[in-house]
Amino acid sequence: MAGLIERYIDRMPEEVTSHIVSIEEGSTPLVPAPALSERVDADVYLKLEGANPTGSFKDRGMTCAVSAAAREGAEAVICASTGNTAASAAAYAARAGMTCAVLVPEGKIAAGKLAQALIYGARVISLNGNFDVALQLVRDLADHHPISLVNSVNDFRLEGQKTSSFEIVDEIGPIDLLTIPVGNAGNITAYWKGFKEYDQAPELNGYQAAGAAPLVEGRRVENPETVASAIRIGNPARWEEAMAAITESRGAVRAVTDDEILDAYRWLPANEGVFCEPASAASVAGLIKNGVSDAARAKAEGGRPKVVCVLTGNGLKDPDTAFDNVGSVIPCEPEMGQLEKAVLGQ
Ligand code: F0G
Repeated sequence: MAGLIERYIDRMPEEVTSHIVSIEEGSTPLVPAPALSERVDADVYLKLEGANPTGSFKDRGMTCAVSAAAREGAEAVICASTGNTAASAAAYAARAGMTCAVLVPEGKIAAGKLAQALIYGARVISLNGNFDVALQLVRDLADHHPISLVNSVNDFRLEGQKTSSFEIVDEIGPIDLLTIPVGNAGNITAYWKGFKEYDQAPELNGYQAAGAAPLVEGRRVENPETVASAIRIGNPARWEEAMAAITESRGAVRAVTDDEILDAYRWLPANEGVFCEPASAASVAGLIKNGVSDAARAKAEGGRPKVVCVLTGNGLKDPDTAFDNVGSVIPCEPEMGQLEKAVLGQ
Protein backbone atom coordinates (compact mmCIF):
# COMPACT_ATOMS: atom_id res chain seq x y z
CA MET A 1 0.00 0.00 0.00
CA ALA A 2 1.37 3.41 -0.92
CA GLY A 3 1.86 6.12 1.68
CA LEU A 4 -0.91 8.63 2.23
CA ILE A 5 0.53 11.43 0.08
CA GLU A 6 0.39 9.17 -2.96
CA ARG A 7 -2.99 7.73 -2.03
CA TYR A 8 -4.60 11.15 -1.66
CA ILE A 9 -2.34 13.09 -3.99
CA ASP A 10 -5.23 15.08 -5.48
CA ARG A 11 -5.97 16.48 -2.04
CA MET A 12 -2.38 17.36 -1.17
CA PRO A 13 -0.68 20.76 -1.56
CA GLU A 14 2.01 20.68 -4.23
CA GLU A 15 4.71 21.48 -1.65
CA VAL A 16 4.55 17.92 -0.33
CA THR A 17 4.30 15.97 -3.56
CA SER A 18 7.65 16.53 -5.28
CA HIS A 19 10.06 15.06 -2.66
CA ILE A 20 7.94 12.46 -0.93
CA VAL A 21 9.40 11.03 2.29
CA SER A 22 7.20 8.11 3.30
CA ILE A 23 7.31 4.97 5.42
CA GLU A 24 3.93 3.88 4.03
CA GLU A 25 1.95 5.46 6.84
CA GLY A 26 -1.84 5.60 7.03
CA SER A 27 -4.29 2.91 5.86
CA THR A 28 -4.74 1.99 9.50
CA PRO A 29 -7.35 -0.55 10.64
CA LEU A 30 -10.86 0.63 11.47
CA VAL A 31 -11.96 -2.12 13.78
CA PRO A 32 -15.54 -2.75 14.93
CA ALA A 33 -15.78 -2.76 18.75
CA PRO A 34 -18.66 -5.08 19.71
CA ALA A 35 -18.31 -4.78 23.49
CA LEU A 36 -18.10 -1.00 23.39
CA SER A 37 -20.95 -0.87 20.87
CA GLU A 38 -23.14 -2.73 23.31
CA ARG A 39 -22.10 -0.49 26.20
CA VAL A 40 -23.13 2.73 24.45
CA ASP A 41 -25.82 1.37 22.11
CA ALA A 42 -24.17 2.45 18.86
CA ASP A 43 -21.99 0.95 16.14
CA VAL A 44 -18.58 1.87 17.44
CA TYR A 45 -15.34 1.52 15.48
CA LEU A 46 -11.79 2.01 16.69
CA LYS A 47 -9.36 3.79 14.37
CA LEU A 48 -6.06 2.14 15.25
CA GLU A 49 -3.56 4.89 14.65
CA GLY A 50 -1.06 2.93 16.70
CA ALA A 51 -0.65 0.77 13.58
CA ASN A 52 1.31 3.54 11.84
CA PRO A 53 5.06 2.95 11.28
CA THR A 54 6.19 4.59 14.53
CA GLY A 55 3.07 3.61 16.46
CA SER A 56 1.11 6.85 16.43
CA PHE A 57 -0.97 9.16 14.21
CA LYS A 58 1.93 11.59 14.07
CA ASP A 59 3.32 9.75 11.05
CA ARG A 60 0.44 11.05 8.93
CA GLY A 61 1.51 14.61 9.54
CA MET A 62 5.20 13.90 9.54
CA THR A 63 5.29 12.43 6.04
CA CYS A 64 3.96 15.78 4.79
CA ALA A 65 6.05 18.05 7.04
CA VAL A 66 9.29 16.25 6.21
CA SER A 67 8.45 16.00 2.50
CA ALA A 68 7.92 19.76 2.41
CA ALA A 69 11.17 20.28 4.30
CA ALA A 70 13.00 18.02 1.82
CA ARG A 71 11.68 20.07 -1.06
CA GLU A 72 13.12 23.19 0.58
CA GLY A 73 16.47 21.44 0.91
CA ALA A 74 16.29 21.43 4.71
CA GLU A 75 19.06 19.52 6.45
CA ALA A 76 17.58 19.52 9.93
CA VAL A 77 14.20 19.33 11.64
CA ILE A 78 13.20 20.11 15.20
CA CYS A 79 10.15 19.71 17.41
CA ALA A 80 8.96 19.97 20.98
CA SER A 81 7.13 16.87 22.03
CA THR A 82 5.43 14.86 24.72
CA GLY A 83 6.96 11.85 22.93
CA ASN A 84 5.12 10.72 19.83
CA THR A 85 5.97 13.67 17.63
CA ALA A 86 9.59 13.20 18.65
CA ALA A 87 9.59 9.52 17.66
CA SER A 88 7.91 10.27 14.35
CA ALA A 89 10.11 13.27 13.47
CA ALA A 90 13.20 11.22 14.28
CA ALA A 91 12.09 8.37 12.00
CA TYR A 92 11.13 10.54 9.03
CA ALA A 93 14.29 12.65 9.38
CA ALA A 94 16.35 9.45 9.33
CA ARG A 95 14.51 8.34 6.23
CA ALA A 96 15.19 11.69 4.56
CA GLY A 97 18.85 11.81 5.57
CA MET A 98 18.28 14.86 7.76
CA THR A 99 19.38 15.47 11.30
CA CYS A 100 16.72 15.80 13.97
CA ALA A 101 16.58 17.43 17.39
CA VAL A 102 13.70 16.93 19.79
CA LEU A 103 12.93 18.79 22.99
CA VAL A 104 10.99 16.73 25.54
CA PRO A 105 9.79 17.52 29.06
CA GLU A 106 12.16 15.89 31.53
CA GLY A 107 10.76 12.80 33.24
CA LYS A 108 7.37 13.13 31.52
CA ILE A 109 7.80 11.08 28.40
CA ALA A 110 6.90 7.41 28.06
CA ALA A 111 9.83 4.99 27.88
CA GLY A 112 9.00 3.55 24.46
CA LYS A 113 8.85 6.99 22.84
CA LEU A 114 12.20 7.99 24.29
CA ALA A 115 13.75 4.74 23.08
CA GLN A 116 12.34 5.38 19.61
CA ALA A 117 13.66 8.94 19.32
CA LEU A 118 17.11 7.72 20.36
CA ILE A 119 17.26 4.64 18.15
CA TYR A 120 16.20 6.65 15.07
CA GLY A 121 19.23 8.81 15.80
CA ALA A 122 17.70 12.08 17.00
CA ARG A 123 19.48 14.45 19.31
CA VAL A 124 17.18 14.20 22.34
CA ILE A 125 17.16 17.16 24.68
CA SER A 126 15.45 16.75 28.03
CA LEU A 127 14.07 20.12 29.11
CA ASN A 128 13.56 21.12 32.69
CA GLY A 129 10.15 22.49 31.78
CA ASN A 130 6.82 21.30 30.39
CA PHE A 131 5.66 20.89 26.77
CA ASP A 132 4.25 24.41 26.51
CA VAL A 133 7.61 25.91 27.47
CA ALA A 134 9.40 23.54 25.08
CA LEU A 135 7.17 24.53 22.16
CA GLN A 136 7.73 28.23 22.73
CA LEU A 137 11.49 27.66 22.84
CA VAL A 138 11.67 25.62 19.61
CA ARG A 139 9.46 28.16 17.80
CA ASP A 140 11.91 30.90 18.76
CA LEU A 141 14.90 28.74 17.85
CA ALA A 142 13.51 27.81 14.43
CA ASP A 143 12.95 31.52 13.71
CA HIS A 144 16.68 32.14 14.04
CA HIS A 145 18.24 29.02 12.53
CA PRO A 146 17.86 27.09 9.27
CA ILE A 147 15.96 24.28 11.00
CA SER A 148 12.52 23.20 9.90
CA LEU A 149 9.90 23.14 12.67
CA VAL A 150 7.71 20.03 12.40
CA ASN A 151 5.28 20.55 15.27
CA SER A 152 1.63 20.77 14.28
CA VAL A 153 1.94 24.56 14.06
CA ASN A 154 3.39 23.51 10.68
CA ASP A 155 0.37 23.49 8.35
CA PHE A 156 1.66 20.54 6.34
CA ARG A 157 1.16 18.37 9.40
CA LEU A 158 -2.60 18.93 9.20
CA GLU A 159 -2.64 18.11 5.50
CA GLY A 160 -1.38 14.64 6.35
CA GLN A 161 -3.50 14.13 9.43
CA LYS A 162 -6.73 15.05 7.64
CA THR A 163 -6.41 11.82 5.62
CA SER A 164 -7.64 9.75 8.55
CA SER A 165 -11.08 11.28 8.01
CA PHE A 166 -10.88 10.34 4.33
CA GLU A 167 -10.02 6.74 5.22
CA ILE A 168 -12.94 6.50 7.65
CA VAL A 169 -15.50 7.79 5.15
CA ASP A 170 -13.99 5.77 2.28
CA GLU A 171 -14.32 2.64 4.40
CA ILE A 172 -17.64 2.93 6.24
CA GLY A 173 -19.33 5.97 4.71
CA PRO A 174 -20.70 8.92 6.70
CA ILE A 175 -20.38 8.68 10.47
CA ASP A 176 -22.42 10.45 13.16
CA LEU A 177 -19.87 11.02 15.91
CA LEU A 178 -16.08 11.05 16.29
CA THR A 179 -14.41 11.01 19.70
CA ILE A 180 -10.77 12.04 19.96
CA PRO A 181 -8.22 13.02 22.61
CA VAL A 182 -7.07 16.64 22.52
CA GLY A 183 -3.66 17.93 23.53
CA ASN A 184 -2.04 20.55 21.35
CA ALA A 185 -5.30 20.49 19.35
CA GLY A 186 -3.77 19.87 15.92
CA ASN A 187 -5.36 16.50 15.33
CA ILE A 188 -8.99 17.44 15.97
CA THR A 189 -8.43 20.46 13.70
CA ALA A 190 -7.05 18.16 10.99
CA TYR A 191 -9.94 15.67 11.25
CA TRP A 192 -12.44 18.47 10.80
CA LYS A 193 -10.52 19.75 7.77
CA GLY A 194 -10.63 16.26 6.29
CA PHE A 195 -14.35 15.80 6.92
CA LYS A 196 -15.13 19.20 5.42
CA GLU A 197 -13.12 18.41 2.30
CA TYR A 198 -15.30 15.31 1.97
CA ASP A 199 -18.51 17.34 2.61
CA GLN A 200 -19.04 15.53 5.89
CA ALA A 201 -20.06 16.94 9.25
CA PRO A 202 -20.03 14.36 12.00
CA GLU A 203 -20.27 15.62 15.57
CA LEU A 204 -16.80 15.97 17.09
CA ASN A 205 -16.30 15.22 20.77
CA GLY A 206 -12.84 16.20 21.99
CA TYR A 207 -11.57 14.88 25.30
CA GLN A 208 -8.91 16.41 27.50
CA ALA A 209 -7.48 15.08 30.74
CA ALA A 210 -9.07 16.85 33.72
CA GLY A 211 -5.69 18.07 34.98
CA ALA A 212 -4.77 19.44 31.56
CA ALA A 213 -8.02 20.81 30.18
CA PRO A 214 -7.45 24.39 28.97
CA LEU A 215 -10.08 24.19 26.23
CA VAL A 216 -12.69 22.96 28.69
CA GLU A 217 -11.84 25.58 31.30
CA GLY A 218 -11.38 28.34 28.76
CA ARG A 219 -8.01 29.37 30.19
CA ARG A 220 -4.37 28.35 30.07
CA VAL A 221 -3.31 25.73 32.58
CA GLU A 222 0.11 26.69 33.95
CA ASN A 223 1.03 23.32 35.44
CA PRO A 224 -0.87 20.61 33.55
CA GLU A 225 -0.84 17.18 35.17
CA THR A 226 -2.18 13.84 33.99
CA VAL A 227 -1.22 10.20 33.73
CA ALA A 228 -1.82 10.60 29.98
CA SER A 229 1.57 12.22 29.40
CA ALA A 230 0.97 12.63 25.65
CA ILE A 231 -1.75 15.23 26.32
CA ARG A 232 -0.12 16.95 29.29
CA ILE A 233 -0.51 20.34 27.63
CA GLY A 234 -1.78 23.59 29.12
CA ASN A 235 -1.71 26.01 26.19
CA PRO A 236 -2.65 24.30 22.90
CA ALA A 237 -1.18 25.87 19.77
CA ARG A 238 -4.33 25.21 17.68
CA TRP A 239 -6.71 26.49 20.36
CA GLU A 240 -8.96 28.71 18.22
CA GLU A 241 -9.12 26.35 15.25
CA ALA A 242 -9.99 23.40 17.44
CA MET A 243 -12.76 25.33 19.17
CA ALA A 244 -14.08 26.47 15.78
CA ALA A 245 -14.11 22.87 14.56
CA ILE A 246 -15.95 21.69 17.66
CA THR A 247 -18.50 24.47 17.42
CA GLU A 248 -19.09 24.02 13.68
CA SER A 249 -19.63 20.31 14.20
CA ARG A 250 -22.10 21.06 17.03
CA GLY A 251 -19.85 18.97 19.21
CA ALA A 252 -18.21 19.48 22.58
CA VAL A 253 -14.89 19.45 24.35
CA ARG A 254 -15.00 17.83 27.74
CA ALA A 255 -12.70 16.53 30.45
CA VAL A 256 -12.18 12.99 31.70
CA THR A 257 -10.37 12.26 34.94
CA ASP A 258 -7.23 10.16 35.17
CA ASP A 259 -9.26 7.43 36.87
CA GLU A 260 -11.75 7.41 34.00
CA ILE A 261 -8.88 7.33 31.49
CA LEU A 262 -7.23 4.42 33.28
CA ASP A 263 -10.52 2.50 33.54
CA ALA A 264 -10.94 2.74 29.76
CA TYR A 265 -7.23 2.01 29.25
CA ARG A 266 -7.63 -1.33 31.10
CA TRP A 267 -11.11 -2.13 29.82
CA LEU A 268 -10.34 -1.85 26.12
CA PRO A 269 -7.56 -4.46 25.88
CA ALA A 270 -9.45 -6.81 28.19
CA ASN A 271 -12.72 -6.56 26.21
CA GLU A 272 -11.79 -5.66 22.65
CA GLY A 273 -8.23 -7.00 22.42
CA VAL A 274 -6.96 -3.53 21.56
CA PHE A 275 -4.18 -1.90 23.56
CA CYS A 276 -3.72 1.85 23.25
CA GLU A 277 -1.75 4.35 25.25
CA PRO A 278 -3.42 6.30 28.09
CA ALA A 279 -3.99 9.51 26.10
CA SER A 280 -5.78 7.52 23.41
CA ALA A 281 -8.02 5.89 26.00
CA ALA A 282 -9.41 9.36 26.76
CA SER A 283 -11.54 9.08 23.61
CA VAL A 284 -13.08 5.84 24.85
CA ALA A 285 -13.39 7.09 28.44
CA GLY A 286 -15.28 10.10 27.14
CA LEU A 287 -17.64 8.01 25.04
CA ILE A 288 -18.36 5.70 27.98
CA LYS A 289 -18.95 8.66 30.28
CA ASN A 290 -21.04 10.87 28.02
CA GLY A 291 -22.53 8.38 25.60
CA VAL A 292 -23.85 9.35 22.18
CA SER A 293 -25.70 12.68 22.09
CA ASP A 294 -29.35 12.87 21.08
CA ALA A 295 -28.28 14.99 18.11
CA ALA A 296 -25.89 12.33 16.87
CA ARG A 297 -28.61 9.70 17.32
CA ALA A 298 -31.01 11.87 15.36
CA LYS A 299 -28.49 12.07 12.51
CA ALA A 300 -28.57 8.30 12.25
CA GLU A 301 -32.26 8.66 11.27
CA GLY A 302 -33.60 5.76 13.24
CA GLY A 303 -30.62 3.52 12.54
CA ARG A 304 -27.89 2.85 15.04
CA PRO A 305 -25.49 5.81 15.15
CA LYS A 306 -22.03 5.20 13.71
CA VAL A 307 -19.27 6.28 16.05
CA VAL A 308 -15.49 6.28 15.61
CA CYS A 309 -13.07 6.52 18.55
CA VAL A 310 -9.61 7.59 17.47
CA LEU A 311 -6.93 5.57 19.24
CA THR A 312 -4.01 7.85 18.59
CA GLY A 313 -1.10 5.76 19.88
CA ASN A 314 0.00 2.19 20.52
CA GLY A 315 -0.13 0.86 24.08
CA LEU A 316 3.41 -0.50 23.78
CA LYS A 317 4.69 3.06 23.86
CA ASP A 318 4.16 3.31 27.60
CA PRO A 319 5.02 0.02 29.35
CA ASP A 320 5.43 1.68 32.76
CA THR A 321 1.80 2.83 32.92
CA ALA A 322 0.72 -0.65 31.85
CA PHE A 323 2.70 -2.34 34.62
CA ASP A 324 1.37 0.17 37.16
CA ASN A 325 -2.19 -0.80 36.28
CA VAL A 326 -2.21 -4.58 36.07
CA GLY A 327 -1.66 -7.55 38.33
CA SER A 328 1.77 -9.13 38.70
CA VAL A 329 3.16 -12.15 36.85
CA ILE A 330 3.06 -15.55 38.54
CA PRO A 331 6.42 -17.14 39.36
CA CYS A 332 6.71 -20.90 38.74
CA GLU A 333 9.29 -23.66 39.16
CA PRO A 334 9.54 -26.23 36.31
CA GLU A 335 7.31 -28.69 38.14
CA MET A 336 3.81 -29.91 37.16
CA GLY A 337 2.13 -29.41 40.52
CA GLN A 338 3.24 -25.80 40.65
CA LEU A 339 2.39 -25.24 37.01
CA GLU A 340 -1.15 -26.57 37.47
CA LYS A 341 -1.61 -24.30 40.44
CA ALA A 342 -0.27 -21.35 38.49
CA VAL A 343 -2.37 -22.03 35.38
CA LEU A 344 -5.61 -23.04 37.07
CA GLY A 345 -5.36 -20.51 39.87
CA GLN A 346 -6.12 -23.04 42.59
N1 F0G B 1 -2.83 11.22 21.53
C1 F0G B 1 -1.51 10.99 21.51
C2 F0G B 1 -1.04 9.60 21.69
C3 F0G B 1 -0.60 12.06 21.34
O1 F0G B 1 0.71 11.80 21.31
C4 F0G B 1 -1.11 13.37 21.20
C5 F0G B 1 -0.20 14.51 21.04
C6 F0G B 1 -2.49 13.55 21.21
C7 F0G B 1 -3.32 12.45 21.38
C8 F0G B 1 -3.13 14.88 21.06
O2 F0G B 1 -3.05 15.33 19.75
O3 F0G B 1 -1.81 17.42 20.17
O4 F0G B 1 -2.96 17.03 18.01
O5 F0G B 1 -4.28 17.44 20.07
N2 F0G B 1 1.05 14.42 21.14
C9 F0G B 1 2.00 15.49 20.84
C10 F0G B 1 3.42 14.98 20.86
C11 F0G B 1 1.78 16.73 21.61
O6 F0G B 1 4.34 15.75 21.12
O7 F0G B 1 3.64 13.80 20.59
P1 F0G B 1 -3.03 16.91 19.47
